[in-house]
Amino acid sequence: MSLSQLLLVTLLSSTTAWVAYSWICLFRNYIEARKVGVPIRVIPISHGNPFWMVVDRKILSLFKKLPFGNGNFTRYNWRGWEIEDRYRSHLEMGDVYVQVTPEKNWLYLCNPEALMDVFRRRSDFPRPLQIYEMLNIFGPNLATVEGYQWKQQRKIIATCFNEQNNEIVWSESVSLAHDMLHYWGSKESVKSLADDTRTFSLHVLSRAGFGKSYKFQGHDEKSTTNTETSYNESLKVVLDNCVLIMALGTNFLSKPWLPRRLRRVYQACISFQNYMTKVYEDEKRTFSDKRSTDSNLMTSLVRASHEESLTSESLTEKEIYGNVFVFNFAGHDTTAHTLTFAIMFLAANPTVQDWLFDELYHVLGDRQPNDWNYNTDFPRLKRCTAVLMETVRLYTPVPVAKWTEKHAQILKVGENTITIPPATMVIPSYAAIHTHPKYWGPDALAWRPSRWIKKSSISLNSFDEEIISLQRGVFIPWSEGERSCPGKKFSQVEFVAAIAGLFREWRVDPIQQRGETLESARARVLELIDKDSAQVLLLQMLHPERAPLIWRRRQ
Ligand code: HEM
Ligand SMILES: *[C@@H]1O[C@H](CO)[C@@H](O)[C@H](O)[C@H]1NC(C)=O
Ligand SMILES: *[C@@H]1O[C@H](CO)[C@@H](O)[C@H](O)[C@H]1NC(C)=O
Repeated sequence: MSLSQLLLVTLLSSTTAWVAYSWICLFRNYIEARKVGVPIRVIPISHGNPFWMVVDRKILSLFKKLPFGNGNFTRYNWRGWEIEDRYRSHLEMGDVYVQVTPEKNWLYLCNPEALMDVFRRRSDFPRPLQIYEMLNIFGPNLATVEGYQWKQQRKIIATCFNEQNNEIVWSESVSLAHDMLHYWGSKESVKSLADDTRTFSLHVLSRAGFGKSYKFQGHDEKSTTNTETSYNESLKVVLDNCVLIMALGTNFLSKPWLPRRLRRVYQACISFQNYMTKVYEDEKRTFSDKRSTDSNLMTSLVRASHEESLTSESLTEKEIYGNVFVFNFAGHDTTAHTLTFAIMFLAANPTVQDWLFDELYHVLGDRQPNDWNYNTDFPRLKRCTAVLMETVRLYTPVPVAKWTEKHAQILKVGENTITIPPATMVIPSYAAIHTHPKYWGPDALAWRPSRWIKKSSISLNSFDEEIISLQRGVFIPWSEGERSCPGKKFSQVEFVAAIAGLFREWRVDPIQQRGETLESARARVLELIDKDSAQVLLLQMLHPERAPLIWRRRQ
């Protein structure tokens, strides 16, 4: 047998073995799923399989062209199918069903009481840590630990996200939004929305996380000099390449024979680490000198873990680095992508811009942005908050997954009580519960921020409005329970400040293509949001640059 024949035989037999093994696992999981007694759907390949994830959408779009290509395989066998599907699967199969894959069974839940129960029973339904392990690059952190270790870290970290820090977030966001608007307003056509909102959120994080304030620089204003030494530059490289770093590991990336691009990524990791070490040492010194310091997250972490060390165990230096990285990781694209979606939606909805403007004019009047006040103005900007809520309702950035780990768990779902086997993924169907007509009415799929607002019952003043109160468990973009997002308020303050800064005096429109009315340009933007959004690491617009925008000052 020649070498190529040998290779072919090996390839064929290992593929056959893999397929056979998959089918055995699939069958075993199917038997297990049957015991739960809820509707079942079977898909032949795990949608979380890393190799499949790279090619899933391409292969399925070929499959769809085949005559029999419109089954469950093409509809559900890809990562991110939940967003396109919205509530359809739950309409067909009820509040709970199991999707069987060769690797694991995935139980999808769309019932508010059952969801809250899962969130509250943190140790019954822990986070599947294997998915998050890759976030350990700079040290163990809140997102990558469970149990006692998590509880102890969370206690310390909760004290850092405090009102003093929110005030920093507010004033930095207002000022950066002002600069960003200045840049956008000076351009005939803004194509760099996604890039600029990332810069914006990166800079908010460097101020509120490290005490480092940077001036906003638009997409075309950035210098292209290759100084990878500054913190913001290296963090940007680290975040842009985080999947790569996590996949290959920093040890591997340090190899001198790797291509230039990869070595640059490694350099960035090193300089980010050095930067954190320097700030950490500075903070420790400032702390022991008892000089009053800023309330940025790093300072508070050092302070809190020092205070904690007098009573019980505190964070180690590595844990501090790990957490600082995770704040940056968790707080960067989440708010940037959400801002991008919101601005696109606003560009398509001029009446919502006018509605926002009425509130902004009423609350902020003619005061200059640096006079806008976190304590008195932020809580009154209900309509700005509603724009955030409505955007994360439809485009929830962070997918949450729980699982049963080693033990079977009993869960009440509506009238039924089910037993969920060990090692089952338990998935809050946020894309479904956020749009189910039962909770959101017939126009659930429309982006309509005013659904969040009601007139205050106690006042006659036309601007005394409130955010509606909802049943717990029907709106879960920041998750719920003890393990919910500690940066929730941070992101709300950041977002509202940005929207206020952008829309107080300006408005935004899509640029019309040749022969197109403004109306149809707006319809095109809505179409782009709908068709062009997908889950990369988070849910995001893939090509917002395809709908350039223009900013104009209000008359
Ligand atoms: C629109 C903005 C944001 C959304 C929708 C969001 C959503 C979430 C969700 C759903 C989780 C839980 C993930 C899970 O259980 O698997 C989470 C966790 C977390 N978020 Fe956020 N987040 C946002 C912004 C931020 C910001 C700005 C920060 C920090 C500055 C932050 C820091 C964190 C951290 C540290 C965790 C891990 C908490 C833990 O495991 O105990 N997030 N976030
Ligand atoms: C395909 O999905 C539907 C619901 O969407 C379900 O009722 C049916 O059982 C599934 N079929 C298979 C073979 O999984
Ligand atoms: C980082 O900051 C420096 C100096 O303030 C600036 O020149 C550079 O463009 C910034 N880089 C990014 C990615 O924002």
